[in-house]
Amino acid sequence: MLHDNLKINEKGHLTFAELDTIELAKEYGTPLMLIDENRIRERMRLYKKAMKNFSDSSMPLFASKALCFKEIYRIAKEEEIGIDVVSSGELYTAVSVEFPMEKVFFHGNNKTDEDIKFAIENNIGYFVADNFEELSKINELASRKGVVQKVIIRLTPGIDPHTHASISTGKVDSKFGVAIETGQADEIVKFALTLENVKLVGFHCHIGSQIFEVEPFLMTVNTMVEYVFKVKKEFNTEIEILDIGGGFACRYVESDGFIDYEKNLKEIATLIKNKVLESGIKMPTIFIEPGRSMVADSGLTLYTVGSIKEIKNVKNYVSIDGGMTDNPRYALYQSSYTVVNATRADKKADYVCSVAGRCCESGDLIQENVKLARPVRDDILAVLCTGAYNYSMASNYNRIPRPPIVMVKDGKSRIVVKRESFDDIIKNEV
Ligand code: LLP
Repeated sequence: MLHDNLKINEKGHLTFAELDTIELAKEYGTPLMLIDENRIRERMRLYKKAMKNFSDSSMPLFASKALCFKEIYRIAKEEEIGIDVVSSGELYTAVSVEFPMEKVFFHGNNKTDEDIKFAIENNIGYFVADNFEELSKINELASRKGVVQKVIIRLTPGIDPHTHASISTGKVDSKFGVAIETGQADEIVKFALTLENVKLVGFHCHIGSQIFEVEPFLMTVNTMVEYVFKVKKEFNTEIEILDIGGGFACRYVESDGFIDYEKNLKEIATLIKNKVLESGIKMPTIFIEPGRSMVADSGLTLYTVGSIKEIKNVKNYVSIDGGMTDNPRYALYQSSYTVVNATRADKKADYVCSVAGRCCESGDLIQENVKLARPVRDDILAVLCTGAYNYSMASNYNRIPRPPIVMVKDGKSRIVVKRESFDDIIKNEV
C-alpha cells in the first residue's frame, strides 16, 4: 500500500487509520473526505523537531492554503507551530479558534486595504510583503493604529525547481515577490527602511510545490543567505528571519519516491549554518512553510460508483458521485493519484478505466487509465493522498455541495466539517 495508514481487512475492505472505509462510507455517506489526525500531528512534530537543526527559535509554519478549516488550526495551535495564511478568510478562520496571532504570517501578491486593516486589527505577527504598494499601505494603516508592524519581504531568488509551471514561483518571471537579480530587491529594502511604522525583520521566498529533490532548496538558501549578507554590508541592517517557503513533495503514486523530510532539512540546515559562519552574519531564525507534505497523505476521499460505461476498443469509464468539484487537480494539472476499489481491495486490480466525475464536462476526470479490481455499481472507490489542495480547492460547480470532512483518530471518527446542504448553496441569494 502507498502509505502505512492503509491496510486490507478480513472482509477484503480497505482500511484507513485502522477503520473500515466501507463502514465509514455507510455511516457518513459519500463523497466523503477522511483525515487521519494522528498522521497530521506526527508530521507537525517531525517538522517541529527537524527545525531545531537550524536553531531553537526556528519553526514550521503550516501553509494552510493546502487544507483550511477550524479544527486543523486547533491542531496546529496544540502542536505549537505557526501558520501561513493568504487571505482574510483564512485569517478569520484562525482568529475564530483563537490561534496565537504572533505566529501567523500573512502572504499574497495582492492584499487589499481591507485585508491589511483586518490583519493589523487582529495583531497579526508578520506580513510577508510582496511589493512597494503593499508596504506603503501597511505603513499607513499601522501608523493609523499607532503600531510598528513587523514585515518580511518576499524575494524571488531566480531558481527554477522544474515542477509544473502553474506551481513554480521562484523564477524572475513570477507574479510573486521582488527579484534579487534585477536589483529591485535592493530598491524595496531601501524603501522599507525609510518607513516609520514598518519594521523590516526578514526575507521570504518560495520556489514552487511538489519538489522531490533537495538541490533546488540548497541553491535557494545559498542565494538567500548571500542576500542577507549583502543587506548587512550595504544597508547596515541585520536580518533576523529567513523564511524559505514550502514545496516538499509527497507520494501520490507508487512510482513517486519516498522523501526523507528530516534528512533534507538537516542538509539545508548544515548549508545555512556554514554559509552564516563564513559570512559572519547572525544566524537568522528559519521558518519553512510545508503545506502539501504536512497533510496530503493524511487525507483520503471515498466515492460511490454509479455508472460503468464500456466503449469497445476505446475506453472504460467508471463514474463516481464526486469529481472536479471536490478534487480539481487532475482537471487543472493532470495530477497523478492512486485509486483503489475499497470494497474489493483484496482482489486483483486489472480493470483498466478512467474514473470520471459527475459534472457536465468531459474534463471532469479524477484519473485516467488506472487499474482497479473490477467495480460494480455501489462499490466504494478510494482516492488516496487527497489531504492537500482538494477540499481547499473544492467548488460548487453544477451546484454540487462540498463533501464533509471526517477526522479519524485512535479507531474513532468524528465530523469536523459538515456536508454542505442545498440551503447552504443558496444562502446568499435574494
Ligand atoms: N508558501 C507559499 C508562499 C506558497 O505559495 C505555498 C504554496 C506554500 C508555502 C506551500 O507549498 P507546499 O508545501 O504545499 O508545496 N494548488 C496547487 C499547489 C499550489 C501551491 C501554492 N503555494 C496544487 O494543487 O498542486
